Amino acid sequence: MRTPLVAGNWKMNGSRESIKELINGVVEGAKSLSGVEVAVCPPTIYIADVIAATDGSIVEVGSQDTCTATKGAFTGETSIDMVKDLSCKYAIIGHSERRTMYGETDEVVAEKFITVKNAGLIPVFCIGETLEEREAGITEEVCARQIDAVFTTSGDNAFADSVVAYEPVWAIGTGKTASPEQAQSVHAFIRQHLAKRNADNAEKVQILYGGSMNPANAKELMGQADIDGGLIGGASLKADDFMAVCQAGQ
Ligand code: 13P
Repeated sequence: MRTPLVAGNWKMNGSRESIKELINGVVEGAKSLSGVEVAVCPPTIYIADVIAATDGSIVEVGSQDTCTATKGAFTGETSIDMVKDLSCKYAIIGHSERRTMYGETDEVVAEKFITVKNAGLIPVFCIGETLEEREAGITEEVCARQIDAVFTTSGDNAFADSVVAYEPVWAIGTGKTASPEQAQSVHAFIRQHLAKRNADNAEKVQILYGGSMNPANAKELMGQADIDGGLIGGASLKADDFMAVCQAGQ
């Protein structure tokens, strides 16, 4: 049985003050949770504050991205060793905002995947189709292509100790959620596709849904057989809403 994971992706939001209030609310709310794993991914500059605030809590912390290089002359970048140094457990990679706005190709994301694995952190590997791709009927093909890039760099055992997040691009920040049936169908496909390389890893990997998940739709989405939690954007910026989603995952 897979334990659900609910992770908040705070993206580029918040101030030192507001983040303090948010993380304190999450830590407080998490005290009454059981049977669900919880993580938050703050803007890099606030990770240290959030790590300090989560000390002794079940709430884990992750970065929103990582550089493929581990050190050196890469102005503005943050290495996975630095993220690890702060005691993060997770690193999101391949978010569609990185793929579309910063031109990250499947190959770059696959390189980031292996960088995170080599550092001993857990990649939260984001995949998903655009609206055009869904309408063209190539959702599964797109997800398979994004996954296969990782198998090419990391081998058949790539998805041991990894998390996959299926985030249909058309559902991110739009208020348009994939229906539970639509999401389940893609999640089941992803698991089957992973199983072609390693059935045990496919059975164990948490596949999160992301895209306008909120307190109103979380329970039904996470009630689907292959949906093992959520990667939450907008609704993770309010502690009460985020905790309601976490409770729905219990
Ligand atoms: P929203 O929940 O705001 O749609 O964002 C989802 C997301 O991109 C999480 O990574």
